[in-house]
Parts: sequence; C-alpha cells; structure tokens
Amino acid sequence: MIGGSQRTLLLEEKNIYNKTMVSLEERYEDMKKIRDELIHFKESPLYEYRVQNKYFPVVGEGSHTARLMFVGEAPGQNEAETARPFCGRSGRVLDEMLESIKLNRSDVYITNIVKDRPPENRDPTEEEIKLYAPFLDRQINIIRPRVIATLGRYSMSYIMKHYGLGTEVGQISALHGREFVAKTDYGSVAIVPLYHPAVALYDGGNKQTLLQDFAALKKYI
Ligand code: URA
Repeated sequence: MIGGSQRTLLLEEKNIYNKTMVSLEERYEDMKKIRDELIHFKESPLYEYRVQNKYFPVVGEGSHTARLMFVGEAPGQNEAETARPFCGRSGRVLDEMLESIKLNRSDVYITNIVKDRPPENRDPTEEEIKLYAPFLDRQINIIRPRVIATLGRYSMSYIMKHYGLGTEVGQISALHGREFVAKTDYGSVAIVPLYHPAVALYDGGNKQTLLQDFAALKKYI
C-alpha cells in the first residue's frame, strides 16, 4: 500500500496497450471502492454467513500494475479469517509455484471470482459467480494485466466465456497450460488456464504438471 503524499507523486509508466497514463493513486482508489462495496454487499447470499462468522471479504492482493494476474475460485476459511487470498494449504502450493519461476506475491496480483467464503468450502454456485464477477471485471480493468492465469475450472470457464472464448471451453485436463488470446477494452490479453493448486496436495504427478505450466508463464514476465 502506498501512503499519503507519496501516492500522489507516483505515476505509472505509459500503459503499453492503450497509451493512457493511469496513476497508481487512481488504481488504489478504484480498488478501495471495490473493497468498500464488497464490505456492504448485502445482496450476496454469502453476506449473512460472513457476518455471523466474523469473516472478511477477500478482495485480492499484490501489485496494481501486475503483468500477471491469477484468478482462483472462492476464499476458504483461512482466507475469510485473514482477508488474504490463497493463504492456506493451496496458497502454500501457489507460493511454491511462484518461487519456481522466481516471482513473489508482490510481483503479481492474486484474486478470486467469488469474494466471500461459501459454507463448508463448497463450490461457488452459478448465481454467486454471476453476482461477484462484475467486481473481478473491474479489477482486471484496473490492473490491465498482459496475462490472466485462471486457477481451476470455475475461473477458467468464467474468464474464457467473458472474453468471447466460450466455444473453446472444455475439460481443464485438455486446456491447462495453453494460451488463448483475447481482446479487452485496454488491449489484448493472454488467458492461460491452470489447474487449481489444491490438485497438487495429494498427487505428486499433478504437482509436476503445475510446475510445467507455471514454467510456461515465464515468457510473459
Ligand atoms: N482456493 C481458492 O480458489 N481461492 C483461495 O483464495 C483459496 C483457496
């Protein structure tokens, strides 16, 4: 986070896509607005559960000018208790994958489609995805990443459909590690579907696959 007057002084380099200057302060303020809206997001069926459990919405974490953005599915208990994405067991796998390509969390941006924890770690519903996706869309437009790496089949499916690649959506086992190029309001973006880091928790073979797919992300950074 950037503090006080320092923030007003910081201007980001020219955006390579649309040649507009977007200040870090503007990005920070837009992201803060999203956080404030999420805190009061009573329209969500997950709101009551969050309040009852003293959980937090999990907005996202990392650089607001990241070239590489990760989109997971929904926060689990650790995440909802700390307001940080991927800070439990799956998060440790994600950290290991980032380390394998010499990145740390502050180099990238990490978020989820659904920003509140679904009870019992169940999968997010279609309704929840539809309700929370506009927040993710706004985050993508703030950050303007060159690459969106989706983590798991829900984010793969949402992001590909959102960027007009619906006909290409298939099994994640067939699509992981591949690149799909899409047009956005700010320029083109590469979409790279990846397995969810949780797949590596019980199966060493899956971990090798994730490592290989992460290695393929290196060319973008
Ligand atoms: N799984 C996700 O999809 N997101 C998180 O933040 C944590 C676990």
